Amino acid sequence: MTLRVVKTIFWFLAGLGLTVILARILYGPGSVTYLTDILPWGLWKGGGVVALVALGGAGFTVAMFVFIFQWDRYQPLVRGAVLFGLLCYVSVAVGLTFDIGIWWRIVFPLWHWQFHSVLFEVAWCIMLYLVVLLVEFSHTVAERYEMERTLRILKRSTLVLVIAGISLSTLHQSSLGTLFLATPFRLHPLWHTDLLPVLFFVSAMGIGCLTISLVTLFVHRLYNAEPPMNAISGLARISAYLLAAYVVIRLTEILASGEGLLLVQNDWDTLNFWIEISLSALIPIAFLFRKAYRCSKTAVFWIALTATIGMALNRVNVAGLATTNLTQSFYFPAWTEWAVTLGILAAGGLVFFFAVEHFGLFQGLTKEHVVERYEPGQLDHTDWAALYFGGQRFGEVHLYSLVFVVGLALSLGLLPDDAIYGVSPETTVTFGARTVVAHKIPARGDEAGTQFLVGNGGEDGIHAAAEVHVLMVDGNRDGDYVLFDHDNHAATLAGEDDPDASCVLCHHMSKPFDEATQCYECHSDMYLTVDLFDHDLHARELGGNQGCAECHQDPSAPKIRENSTECVDCHEGMRQEGSRVQVTDPTMQYFAPGYMHVMHALCETCHEERQPTLPVPNENFARCTNCHQGLPSLRSDIWKSARMSIATYTTRSDSGGGGQQ
Ligand code: HEC
Ligand code: HEC
Ligand code: HEC
Ligand code: HEC
Ligand code: HEC
Ligand code: HEC
Repeated sequence: MTLRVVKTIFWFLAGLGLTVILARILYGPGSVTYLTDILPWGLWKGGGVVALVALGGAGFTVAMFVFIFQWDRYQPLVRGAVLFGLLCYVSVAVGLTFDIGIWWRIVFPLWHWQFHSVLFEVAWCIMLYLVVLLVEFSHTVAERYEMERTLRILKRSTLVLVIAGISLSTLHQSSLGTLFLATPFRLHPLWHTDLLPVLFFVSAMGIGCLTISLVTLFVHRLYNAEPPMNAISGLARISAYLLAAYVVIRLTEILASGEGLLLVQNDWDTLNFWIEISLSALIPIAFLFRKAYRCSKTAVFWIALTATIGMALNRVNVAGLATTNLTQSFYFPAWTEWAVTLGILAAGGLVFFFAVEHFGLFQGLTKEHVVERYEPGQLDHTDWAALYFGGQRFGEVHLYSLVFVVGLALSLGLLPDDAIYGVSPETTVTFGARTVVAHKIPARGDEAGTQFLVGNGGEDGIHAAAEVHVLMVDGNRDGDYVLFDHDNHAATLAGEDDPDASCVLCHHMSKPFDEATQCYECHSDMYLTVDLFDHDLHARELGGNQGCAECHQDPSAPKIRENSTECVDCHEGMRQEGSRVQVTDPTMQYFAPGYMHVMHALCETCHEERQPTLPVPNENFARCTNCHQGLPSLRSDIWKSARMSIATYTTRSDSGGGGQQ
C-alpha cells in the first residue's frame, strides 16, 4: 500500500465521520446509534475509549524506559510514542464528548466534583495526562522551530513530567478496570474478576510496546525508510514478558476462584475468551520469545497487529461484548457509529503523518524520505495555498480535498431519517397487569423477604408452598415483569376495619364515568408522558361548533388550558380523595407520566417509607431486586426458570389492553 492510498482512505473516513458527528450534535446520540437502556455502552465507549486508552499506554511506557530507566536503546521511539499516546487520548476525549448525552457537559467534572465516582477519577486523570502529553510533545515542536528558551525550560521539567505521566497513567489505566468491578451481574465470570485493575494496567503496558512498534514499522514502510529495529526488538521482548505476566495472573485467578470449568465449556463466551487470549497474548508470547522473530520486521509487524487486535477485543469484551449473554440482549453498532470511530482514528492518523513529515518524529526517517515519496511538482509543502488555488495539476491536495468532500456528502446521503429530522420519541404502548398463580416462598439464601415463582418452577418444595394469585405487571409485555401481590397489599394497607380503605392509596384517578380505571389506560406509554385531554373528542362530544363556548367562554382570550373551563367542572369524580398520589407540579395536571415512572414513584417511595417499620427487618425491601425478581440483568437464574414456565401459568382473568398478547 502506498502512502497516497493510505492518506486517501484516511481523508475519506474523516469526511464520512464528520457529517455523522454534526448530525449527532444536532439531534443527540439516539439519532445515530443503536444503543439502548440495557446496553448503553457501545462501540464508541468500548472501542473508542476503553480500547484506545490501553493502546495509548505506549506513551508512558516508552517514556518511562527512556527517562526513568535511562534505557537509551529506546530513544529513537520516544517521540513517536509520546505523540501516539497524545493522539490516542485526544481521540478518546473527542469520542467520549460525542458519546455522552449532552456533549458540551464533558467539561463538567472540572467543577462538579464527585468523589465516589470511578469515572470522575478517570476523567481527571485523563485530562491531566492529556496536558502532560501535550507538554511532552511540545518538546518536539520547540526543537523543530529552534525555540531555545522554551526548550531549556522543557528539558528541565522532563523528569517531573514523565513521573507525573506515569502516576496518572497507573491511576487511570487501572481504574478503568475498577469501573467494571461494578458489573458482576452483567459481565461474564471469565472476564469479571477483582483483579481487573491489575490486569488492565499490566496489559496496557504490554500492548503499548507492541502497538507503537506496529505504528513505527508501518510508517517506515510507507516512507521507505529503515525502522529502528534495535529498539523495536527490545520492546517486543519486554512486551513478551509483560504479556506472559498478564496471562499467568489471568489464568491463575480464574482457576483459583473455582471457575476453571468455564474454560472448557462449549459455548460462545468460552470460544470468545480463547480467541481473545490467543490473539492478545498466547500467540505473541510464543513468537516474541524467539530472537529470530523479534528481529524480523515482517514478523514483528504481523505479531504486533495480532496482539493489538486481540487486546482491543479484550477491552471491547469487558466493556460490552461479554455482557450480551447475561443481559440477553444483542447489539451491533450502526454504520454511523463505525463512521465516527473510524473517522476519529483516521483524523488522528493524518495528524501523525503530518508530524512525521514536519517534526522529524523518527530519526531514521528524514526529509529526504518524505520528499522522495512525492513526485516532484506535485506537492510543495511550503506553499499549500498556491498549489490548491493555483489550479495546477491534479495534485495530492486536490485528491484529498475531493475524497474528504465525497466522504462528507456520502454519509449525508446515507444518514438515517432520525439524524436529519431529529429523533421522535418512540411510543411504547402499555397493557394491563395479568393475574397469575404463583408460589410464595421465602427469599433464597439469607435474604429476608419473600419470593414468587410462577408456575411449576421445578424446585423442591415449591408445590407445598402457599399458592397465591398475584398480578404480573409487565406494561410493555417484554417479559421483564414484576410480580405484585395485589390482594396482600390491599389487605395489609387497609388495616383491620375496612377492606376497601386502601384502594384509593394507589388508584388515585379514574376516567370520567368509570371506576377503578386501570393504571395502564391512562399511563398508556411505558416511558413517555401522555396528555389525557383529547381535544377533538371533546369538541365532537360537546356538539361540534356549538360546544366550543362550553370551554372557551371568553372568545378573545388565548385558547390555553388556564383560560378554559376546568376539567373538574364537568368531571367531578375523576380524582380520588386521600390518595398517596398527589399532583406536585400544577402545570402537569392531566398529563400522565410514563408507566415505569409511576410504578417506581408509587411502589418504591412507599417501600422506602415503610422499611424502618417492618415487623421483620428486610434491608432489601426498597431495593431493585425485591420487586425485580424477574429482570434478567438482576437475577438471571430466576428469570430463566420463570421464562421457561411462563407458558404454563394459569390465568384467572386477562385484562390485557389493545387486544394483543
Ligand atoms: C417497589 C417495587 C420496585 C422497586 C424497588 C424497583 N422497581 Fe423497577 N419497576 C417496578 C414495577 C412495578 C415496574 C413495571 C414493570 C413492567 O411493567 O414491566 C418496574 C419497571 C422497571 C423497568 C422497566 C422494565 C421493562 O419492562 O422495561 C426497569 C428498567 C426498572 N424497573 C428498573 C429498576 C431499578 C434499576 C430499580 C432499583 C434502583 C428498580 N427498578 C426498583 C417496581 C419496582
Ligand atoms: C399498593 C397499590 C394498590 C392498592 C392498595 C390497590 N391496588 Fe388495585 N392495582 C394496583 C396496580 C399497580 C394494578 C395494576 C394495574 C395496571 O397494570 O394497569 C392494580 C390493578 C387492579 C385491578 C385490575 C386487575 C385485576 O386484578 O383484575 C383492579 C380491579 C383493582 N386493582 C382494584 C383494586 C381494589 C378494589 C383495591 C382496594 C381493595 C385495590 N385495587 C388496591 C395497585 C393497587
Ligand atoms: C384516569 C387516568 C389515570 C389513572 C387510571 C391512573 N393515573 Fe396515575 N396519574 C394520572 C395523571 C393525569 C397523573 C399526573 C398528575 C395528576 O394530574 O394528578 C398521574 C400521576 C401519577 C403518579 C405521580 C407520579 C409522580 O411523578 O409523582 C403516580 C405514582 C401514579 N399516577 C400512579 C398510578 C397508579 C399506580 C395507577 C393505577 C393503580 C394510576 N396512576 C392510575 C392519571 C391516571
Ligand atoms: C372540553 C373543553 C373544550 C372544548 C369543548 C373545546 N376546547 Fe378548544 N381547547 C380546550 C383546551 C383545554 C385547550 C388547551 C389545549 C392544550 O393545552 O392542549 C384548547 C385549545 C384550543 C385551541 C388552541 C390549541 C391549538 O391546537 O392551537 C383552539 C384553536 C381551540 N381550542 C379551538 C376550539 C374550537 C374551535 C372548539 C369547538 C369546535 C373547541 N376548541 C372546543 C378546551 C376545549
Ligand atoms: C364542558 C365539560 C367538559 C370539560 C371542561 C372537560 N371534559 Fe372531558 N369529557 C366531557 C365529555 C362530555 C366527555 C365524553 C364522555 C363520554 O365518553 O361519553 C368527556 C370525556 C373525557 C375523557 C374520556 C375520554 C376517553 O378516552 O374515554 C377524558 C379522559 C376527559 N374527558 C378528560 C378531560 C380533561 C383532562 C379535561 C380538562 C383539560 C376535560 N376532560 C374537560 C366533558 C368535559
Ligand atoms: C402504601 C405502601 C406500599 C405501596 C404503594 C406498595 N407496597 Fe409493596 N409492600 C408494602 C408493605 C407494607 C409490604 C409488606 C407486606 C407484608 O409483609 O405482608 C409490601 C410487600 C411487597 C413485596 C414483598 C412480597 C409481598 O407481597 O409480601 C413486594 C414484591 C412488593 N411489595 C411489591 C410492590 C410493588 C410492585 C408495588 C407497586 C405496584 C408496591 N409493592 C407498592 C407496602 C407498599
